[in-house]
Amino acid sequence: MTESNRDYLAEYDSAPEAEKYPLVHKWMKTEPLPFFKQLREERPILVTPECTLVTLFTDVRDVLQMPKVFTVDLYKPKMGVTATDPGYLMAHDDDALHYREKSLMQGMLNRDDVPKVRKFVARCAEGLLDDADGSIEVVNAYCRRVPAHLVRDYFGLDGIGLDELIEWSFWNQYDAFHNQPFDLNSTEKYEHIVKNHDRVTEELVTYIAVLMGRKLLRVRTEFITNILLLPWRLIKALFRRLTGREDDAVGDTIVLRMLRSSFAKKVDFSLIRIGVNAGGLLIGAIETTSQAVVQTIRYFLDRPDLLNDAKHAAADGNPTAFDSMVWEALRFVPISPYMFRRASTDYAIAKGTDRETEIERGTNVLLVTQSAIFDPYAFDDPEEFDPYRNWYHHFNFGFGSHECLGKYIGMVMIPEMVRQVILRHNIRATGPMDYKDGPFPEDYPLAWG
Ligand code: HEM
Repeated sequence: MTESNRDYLAEYDSAPEAEKYPLVHKWMKTEPLPFFKQLREERPILVTPECTLVTLFTDVRDVLQMPKVFTVDLYKPKMGVTATDPGYLMAHDDDALHYREKSLMQGMLNRDDVPKVRKFVARCAEGLLDDADGSIEVVNAYCRRVPAHLVRDYFGLDGIGLDELIEWSFWNQYDAFHNQPFDLNSTEKYEHIVKNHDRVTEELVTYIAVLMGRKLLRVRTEFITNILLLPWRLIKALFRRLTGREDDAVGDTIVLRMLRSSFAKKVDFSLIRIGVNAGGLLIGAIETTSQAVVQTIRYFLDRPDLLNDAKHAAADGNPTAFDSMVWEALRFVPISPYMFRRASTDYAIAKGTDRETEIERGTNVLLVTQSAIFDPYAFDDPEEFDPYRNWYHHFNFGFGSHECLGKYIGMVMIPEMVRQVILRHNIRATGPMDYKDGPFPEDYPLAWG
């Protein structure tokens, strides 16, 4: 039993079969930490009629390292995979396409950009807060907007409104990650989400086709424009050198970078695949960032002592201390308590231990990462807020071959966005955060000054 004195497993065991997983689903949402603690201590691998939960750090990490055994098959229908279309790289497990496109895209998102990305995010965030003049509905006017600006100005998906970019990311994320069998959505809700996902996919595909055409034309005529613009560029460079001013624009965009690179035919990175990957950048960036940022802000605002510490760290020129507080806060309020996989074969998890459990082929498995990061194997005194923890034991950006492509961007974007809000004088919530019956925060009013 846990300190909360609720015996979840006794309630679970005595519930009728049809009510067992709904109870688990509810506890994961409403009281995850005491529930996971009891699971870790008494039934670390919980086999429910709907799916199997894996809660210990070592088991979670082990499963995530076997992509061919514990697959992302559930992503396939959500990420454009059909008999004739390979869809997006994320729906592929350790195959040629995944290996090739992930590594190419990691190269495009050059980590040397990261300091400039942070400056870009800081400027954009500061500008939005200044314009808000002392009060803001932070989810829509800030948490979704800053990453949308990044998608437009750094990734290079321009010529479209930020609202469209936000909506496209939203429905894709909703359908892929929160419209699975274990989300227990009603048929009506399930179909509503799929319908919206289909609608935005059509819009996104048309937009990407036009974007590729526009940008390709630009790249092909670059030689001539470069010659025409040469004098202007020289003057700008000279000015910067004379004034000692740094060029803090990120520079080119990822879309242009992809189109300017020439790949031998055998590399197999066609214009169509470039387009698909440009869309993937957008989908991955916005709703994830928004949720992580707003949940962290609320975590600090709800805890005055911690808020005070965060304010001091935020004001420090060196971001390390503040960023560590953000990652520690996300251990308590992650964007999801789990990642999910489907078993492609029968497999015994934790073989040779007293928790050894046979998983049947076709079983959906929830890797309960939020439990794993409260496992004393990973962290001493896991219930304590301690920013000085081993970063390698976090799962904020996943683990294994599907680890987040945008990790290094997220690692500066999320804390910098939180920092800019925390730095506002007398920052406070003027109402509760509202999820409006969905998986993502939708409304959270703040004021400062
Ligand atoms: C900044 C822009 C972002 C981009 C372009 C992006 C893109 C991606 C892509 C392409 C993958 C799949 C990688 C693969 O299958 O090999 C992925 C995975 C993941 N991303 Fe991101 N992402 C971004 C931001 C974020 C943020 C802010 C979070 C969380 C706070 C996040 C959390 C994750 C997680 C947990 C996974 C692993 C999913 C799994 O293993 O099933 N991402 N991301």
